[in-house]
Amino acid sequence: MLFLINSDVMVLLGLLSALLFVMGLKGLAHPKTARRGNLFAMLGMGVAVATAMMVPQVGAYLWIIAGLALGAVIGIPMARKTPLTALPQLVAAFHSFIGLAATLVAVGMYLRQMTFNALDGGTAAEMGIGAAIGMITFTGSVVAALKLQGVIGGKPWGWSGRHFLNLGLALALVLAMLLFIMQLTFLPLFAIVIISAILGVTLVAAIGGADMPVVVSMLNSYSGWAAAATGFMLEQPVLIMTGALVGASGAILSYIMCKAMNRSFLSVIMGGFGAEPTTAGAEAGPAMSVKEAGADDAAYMISNAARVIIVPGYGMAVAQAQHAVKELYVLLEEKGIATEFAIHPVAGRMPGHMNVLLAEADIPYDSVHELEDINPRFKETDVVLVLGANDVVNPAAQTSPGSPIYGMPVLEAWKAQQVYVVKRSHRPGYAGVDNPLFGMENCALVLGDAKAIVESLVTALKAS
Ligand code: TAP
Repeated sequence: MLFLINSDVMVLLGLLSALLFVMGLKGLAHPKTARRGNLFAMLGMGVAVATAMMVPQVGAYLWIIAGLALGAVIGIPMARKTPLTALPQLVAAFHSFIGLAATLVAVGMYLRQMTFNALDGGTAAEMGIGAAIGMITFTGSVVAALKLQGVIGGKPWGWSGRHFLNLGLALALVLAMLLFIMQLTFLPLFAIVIISAILGVTLVAAIGGADMPVVVSMLNSYSGWAAAATGFMLEQPVLIMTGALVGASGAILSYIMCKAMNRSFLSVIMGGFGAEPTTAGAEAGPAMSVKEAGADDAAYMISNAARVIIVPGYGMAVAQAQHAVKELYVLLEEKGIATEFAIHPVAGRMPGHMNVLLAEADIPYDSVHELEDINPRFKETDVVLVLGANDVVNPAAQTSPGSPIYGMPVLEAWKAQQVYVVKRSHRPGYAGVDNPLFGMENCALVLGDAKAIVESLVTALKAS
């Protein structure tokens, strides 16, 4: 035993770390303060871990340090190597660890309490809830990570009868929970773990395509509640507070994202319950005639424009074109061409993905606009440059009721005089649906890697 602290000091330290987490969350709300927010959050986690280590009952420091070292050896290279575009699957994998840890703690606590014959109904309820939320989070996050990584199909697995299966599983879970609380035996706890594991898969499998961002933030919320349940089991106020913070902020983020994408919050958290089935035909679409243009043509039109809007998307992140985009932005502003950026809330592969990249390239915040602000301005714009974005500028979201993205607000790029879409091929975007924008009279594709095309635009504009 290294240190001893009394429970009052523990509560105070817990409050301090909770305060630091709140300041961290507040900081993360804006790119300008995000770095500071991250530092506060890291400090809060440091205080929380140190407080947990100082609890009198903790004795096995060697095991804890070995666990921390092993985690660092695996985690640090993983975090360094993972590109920003693969962050959602990394985050989903992290959530799965939290869920698994909550379940393992619940089972471990059960075995320990049974040994000392100290289990009662209240503690059993905490264990059952912790094990259930933990396991749903674990298997749900594994499915989400595999979908996002493209290992398994990213589309929603819709099959008739799944709502009945989910309902049946939920009822069986409640029954197992009641049995566990009454009997305090291992079999119902085992049943809780197995049923929750299946429920995690069926809930997340039903969601997919363009709705994946909501799933990730929903699992983030679940992982928070799993941590809070663990806090109750271990009687750790710090874990309860931080778990509740993550759970609540994740739920709020899920709600905001559902609103941004015009999806029902309840439908998403209940595994797509009540969601309108989408027609398979909407994914194929009729063959369109698509025009192509060269970077020189686009540069010529841009040089004669008074207003330009750039719509960045996932492809800009893949190409790491943000610094070339900054050069283009400076050049256009120097030429007196008013240039703005239009950001869709789910452009890229994580919330704020585009804002982070543009901020990294020092593009002024006041030229970066959210969907509601910029949509009315497309009709007054001469040229829109869509840089590696696809789903977020797809008019089918407004016009094709059968489309999987129908109802999702989109950037109305097609209302501009001329649209150039920079991408490498005619393939669809993340949701796998055709984009009628590409076949419109005022649209042309400029095929190639986003960075190379932007650099060509800069060269051509400098020469003009
Ligand atoms: P997408 O619809 O995924 O389209 C990206 C486009 O970029 C593709 O059509 C691709 O076409 C092109 N591209 C890829 N690499 C490129 C490169 N190196 N150079 C040029 N173009 C390149 O992207 P979006 O419009 O940003 O929409 C985001 C989608 O991801 C939404 O459906 C959203 O729901 C989903 N999603 C978002 C998140 C979050 S939280 N933002 C998380 C998970 C999923 P080519 O292959 O032809 O080049």
